[in-house]
Amino acid sequence: MKYTIATIHGDGIGPDVVREAVRALKAVAHCSGFELDFVEAPMGGAAYDAFGCPLPDSSLATCRGSDAILLGAVGGPRWDKLPGDLRPEAGLLGLRAGMGTYANLRPARIFPELASACPLKPEIVRGGLDLLIVRELTGGIYFGERGRSPDGGTAWDTERYTKAEIERLLEVAYRAARARSKKLCVVDKANVLESSRLWRQTAQELAAHYPDVETSFMYVDNCAMQLVRNPRQFDVIATSNMFGDILSDEASMITGSIGMLPSASVGSSGPGIFEPIHGSAPDLAGKDQANPLAAILSAAMLLAYGLKRKAEAAAIERAVSSVLAAGYRCADIATGAEGEIVLGTRAMGETVARAIEEAAQGTPRSAADAGR
Ligand code: IPM
Ligand code: MG
Repeated sequence: MKYTIATIHGDGIGPDVVREAVRALKAVAHCSGFELDFVEAPMGGAAYDAFGCPLPDSSLATCRGSDAILLGAVGGPRWDKLPGDLRPEAGLLGLRAGMGTYANLRPARIFPELASACPLKPEIVRGGLDLLIVRELTGGIYFGERGRSPDGGTAWDTERYTKAEIERLLEVAYRAARARSKKLCVVDKANVLESSRLWRQTAQELAAHYPDVETSFMYVDNCAMQLVRNPRQFDVIATSNMFGDILSDEASMITGSIGMLPSASVGSSGPGIFEPIHGSAPDLAGKDQANPLAAILSAAMLLAYGLKRKAEAAAIERAVSSVLAAGYRCADIATGAEGEIVLGTRAMGETVARAIEEAAQGTPRSAADAGR
């Protein structure tokens, strides 16, 4: 069996973390006896520099021809002065739209080993945290009409949703809720926004088809508060593009660091996009300091959702857990506690890859030994 993976290294720390995610994928492929063919698709600031546009047609074609897309991060101050449609972020939005990946799954889970990295009081997250944000990804204010008045003194962006867009996103969220604890919270601003009222109405109609799932509604401002007050009340959260962007950063911090959170963007058909939720952190680029675990866990999501290889996805997740259990940390998740060994990007990637290989060989050596 052979799969083609389109890799988009992107900007800033993107190349640093994608390199380690590729290492993990190669390790599982090697152990499971399937082949992976990696094809680079330039996108973001790097593509702008090389081709004058943030998403060349050839990159979109490479992605369309792949089985799954592994993406690092895009953007940086170098490109901040470019007009909106040439910015690196425009490449990312074009890719999401072009691939039709309307549902973005962002799990936020506290690894027990990292419980002390959670900035909330221990009693608030006692018993752990495992929630899933299902973010709409190809509609809303990110894609609505925007503009500037001729004098430059007025600017607007439009939050616009069709019922069909809301419905297909909610279907994904309901199916996810069904497979988890059967609780779905739809987050909106229905007390103010008409588009949110359509979200609520659509969810109320759909709820009838999922009687086994308990549907609740919450305003986004309240949700932002509840996430730090009592995050354990949530299981699956479904929300719009921008609210999901904001809430997923908030949720990530509860898990200890945004450097830990992966994501999967999927549509009705075609390859999905798998990327860490963090940005390109230009100040850390090339310094071997970025935490590659979010990218490595995104590679696990790529295996599970993109290639339907759940066993191999689990192998990566287990390797990450074992490496954390052995005390290995990147700087962002280090607390200074005794027994912690702080690693750079590459060493962390190598340690995870080794843990994957050793688990496959059945050598019950601890990950701690593996790192020495
Ligand atoms: C994310 C990022 C992107 C977004 C940016 C880089 C366009 O913040 O994936 O969460 O807002 O979707
Ligand atoms: Mg974001």
